[in-house]
Amino acid sequence: MYCKKIECEGYRNIEKASLELSRDVNVFFGDNAQGKTNILEAIYYFACGKSFRGARDRELISFDREHARLELDFEDKDRERRHEVRLHRQGRRECFMEAIRTPRISEFVGRFRAVLFSPEHLSIVKDGPSERRLFEDIAISQLYPAYMASLSRYNKILSERNALLKEPEAFSFKGMLTVLSEQLAREGAFISEHRRRYTEKLSEITADIVADMTCGREKLSIDYPCFKTENDYRELLLSNTEKELRAGGTLYGIHKDDMPVTLNGSDARVYASQGQQRSIALAMKLAEGEISRIVTGEYPVFLLDDILSELDRSRKEYVLSGFDGRQVIITCCEDIPELKASVFRVKNGKIEN
Ligand SMILES: Nc1ncnc2c1ncn2[C@@H]1O[C@H](COP(=O)(O)OP(=O)(O)O)[C@@H](O)[C@H]1O
Ligand SMILES: [Mg+2]
Repeated sequence: MYCKKIECEGYRNIEKASLELSRDVNVFFGDNAQGKTNILEAIYYFACGKSFRGARDRELISFDREHARLELDFEDKDRERRHEVRLHRQGRRECFMEAIRTPRISEFVGRFRAVLFSPEHLSIVKDGPSERRLFEDIAISQLYPAYMASLSRYNKILSERNALLKEPEAFSFKGMLTVLSEQLAREGAFISEHRRRYTEKLSEITADIVADMTCGREKLSIDYPCFKTENDYRELLLSNTEKELRAGGTLYGIHKDDMPVTLNGSDARVYASQGQQRSIALAMKLAEGEISRIVTGEYPVFLLDDILSELDRSRKEYVLSGFDGRQVIITCCEDIPELKASVFRVKNGKIEN
């Protein structure tokens, strides 16, 4: 996957930019709050269909503008493609593929694939289960668009079901609750099966990378103990209504999943040092890229947001040496002269090559 050109207009603090990127390493450097992450956010928008910083579309439009436009030219192993998004302060966003309007952004997802490394990801081992679920959800969605669709249906059913469980008269809606439980069990099982398969690959590849990083000293596994079938979920959801009414919410399902990480036999969340946790997190991200290559036949684009300054020398070298022959887009506060790269300077939303 090669991201050839990104154009931004009225996006965050970028009035207008048209950036041609090299096939290898690209570095965006500049002081804080100049717009470096905004550029990666714009590129990654095409990979996951939204801002990775949790911003709403409206918040991406420059303060003094009514519209924003993003356009990405990229090449996958088959052909060149052009995707475009127009955001409007009033009204719905518009998406275009090769200048043809597409009704849903989900059509984009899975076509342009990227792996993002940001400083927050370094705590993915230490964080709570929701961060690990989010990691897998984004990774799996890019590979299997049906997963994203199922997840979005799941979340909608879940919030309806939760609202119903909070109703004082919930018992009189028992039929409705049963229907929602059946639907939730079906979507949940589909998601759980994908998570099971993904976690198995993730565990295997991350373990290899961690072994490689530590000359075989550290043995790692990532598990998915929460796997359940549709029958399992149906059983749980249909036979615990009273408990769920007391709790006022859905107690069983993939929204409670975890993928715990074990290092040398103990829970890495509790027992691994901060340095070990960071190495594992990096290895998980590198593994995400490997899995994407295995499934799709080509490497995704790697986006590194301000991560190099967070790493010590040996981890930095390990990470950079692994990117040979792949496209990498890096943001940092200083130029990295030891890297052979296309360099862009970012200042106050303006970008110079
Ligand atoms: N909607 C917006 N309109 C205009 N400027 C924005 C908008 N959203 C964020 N900004 C500006 O973008 C800058 C932050 O950019 P960012 O890419 O996060 O910086 P950094 O270079 O540190 O990565 C800040 O100056 C912020 O005020
Ligand atoms: Mg930044």
